[in-house]
Amino acid sequence: MAADTFAFKGTFFHTPAYGQLEALRDAVVVIQDGKIARVGNSDDEAALMREFGLSEVRRLKEGQYFVPGFIDTHVHAPQYKFTGTGTDEALMDWLKKYTFPAEGSFRDLDAAHHRYALLVKRFLANGTTTAMYYGSLHLEPNLILVDTIERLGQRAVVGKVNMDRHSPDDYVEATADGIRDAEEFIKYTQGKKCTRIEPCITPRFIPTCTPELMKGLAAVAQKYGTHIQSHISECCGEVNCVREMHPEYASDAAVFEEMGLLTSKTVMAHGTLLSDADIKHLASRGTAVSHCPLSNFFLGDAFFKVNHALSLGLKVGLGTDVAGGIQPSMLSAQRMAVVNSRCLRAHKLAVSGGTIVTPEMEKDVITFKEALWLATVGGAQALNMEDRVGTFAVGKEFDALLVDTNLGGTAGPFDVFEGEDDLQRFEKFINLGDDRNLLEVYVQGKCVKRGDTFELEAAILKSGHDSDRPMAAPTPAEPNAEPTVDLAHQPSSDSPASGEAEEPAAKRSRR
Ligand code: GUN
Ligand code: FE
Repeated sequence: MAADTFAFKGTFFHTPAYGQLEALRDAVVVIQDGKIARVGNSDDEAALMREFGLSEVRRLKEGQYFVPGFIDTHVHAPQYKFTGTGTDEALMDWLKKYTFPAEGSFRDLDAAHHRYALLVKRFLANGTTTAMYYGSLHLEPNLILVDTIERLGQRAVVGKVNMDRHSPDDYVEATADGIRDAEEFIKYTQGKKCTRIEPCITPRFIPTCTPELMKGLAAVAQKYGTHIQSHISECCGEVNCVREMHPEYASDAAVFEEMGLLTSKTVMAHGTLLSDADIKHLASRGTAVSHCPLSNFFLGDAFFKVNHALSLGLKVGLGTDVAGGIQPSMLSAQRMAVVNSRCLRAHKLAVSGGTIVTPEMEKDVITFKEALWLATVGGAQALNMEDRVGTFAVGKEFDALLVDTNLGGTAGPFDVFEGEDDLQRFEKFINLGDDRNLLEVYVQGKCVKRGDTFELEAAILKSGHDSDRPMAAPTPAEPNAEPTVDLAHQPSSDSPASGEAEEPAAKRSRR
């Protein structure tokens, strides 16, 4: 048997089409060199074992299922630090008061190293096998983010944030420096030749970027064929600001178009205030929107209409938008997408002033099946990875979550009762489950997390090639932080954070 060939037998849930939940029962799935080599059934088992020289096929227990790994199309990596707090401001003040100071504090590279390990572990533990990350403004911490993702085995698209105006004096860059650093970041990331990690051009949003910066970044994206990400038509404060700054353009979409930033590898977050004409425009460019329902509840002023956008041909993925969205979990994002859709229905009824629910009012409603599609296939489409991930189709890479629905009582987040079938158990997982239900997390056919262990990191530690301290999963916040130090309020300094372990020489050298 080839070392990289193995097989599972059991039930695999996925959503090959929007709204269609398919259960592959008693399926035998063979994984070879990280890819799904065959999907057969019980009858094929013996033949598959012979064909692939397998001495065993691992059987899932009753109540255990595989589901494709979740794809988060919009996360701000440094904002994980304050997620769950700072929920009291509208976007423009929220950026000034919480976000820019927190992101700037990642200049402390020791802190960045430690915090990014916590971030990536948290997301992997919650089943996010792929994330489209915003880093921060400064180049160096972004390199640490990429290193961390590489070490822990996640799949990611990562961007260095660019912003050259309307930003705090200590969190802004000169236009030419920003373009140069964005290119440096791309070279560093592509230079790793890690097939899981792709760089991204990341003009933060229109208000903080000059046309010169945006055009320069578009040229870099074109030169290197990279993804692009930004925020579009997120809320009234942002949209009104852009109208004042760019009265010559009718909408955010028109500005981005002029700057050359709408491509088939672009993901725009939010889009709650996009007009139909804007949506059609983005769709015509192959640009996607990352729907971030929980963030939109806090920072947006409107609802994104998933079904309507899809009907206009737009690619739509799902995002947590940590920390605008306060939960670092794509299970939460799926639930919030359903709730968002039900709010649209309730809103229409309220506007009607009556008690008759019309079919028109139902049009925006999505179920957990559609939400799961958004979190898997929709995300894959948004990131142009549809041929690689999102379903259990032969030829795709095996990014998957082993779900266990057997953890009742205090051991898990929900209980299962007699007579409940696998569909009901799986729906309970989507609606009630959490990281405790995820026994194993696979990326490119590698188990990157099993129980409390992050397998890739554990292997590195065992081989002695990295002197990082092991951390349990999910890792405790800021371990050894004695005495307590609030890193966000530390001046950028070269001294290691109080109580942090000595930094390995390899990491120091980047300064
Ligand atoms: N617009 C510009 N920056 C941000 C950010 O960090 N989060 C959100 N939600 N919107 C933004
Ligand atoms: Fe965002």
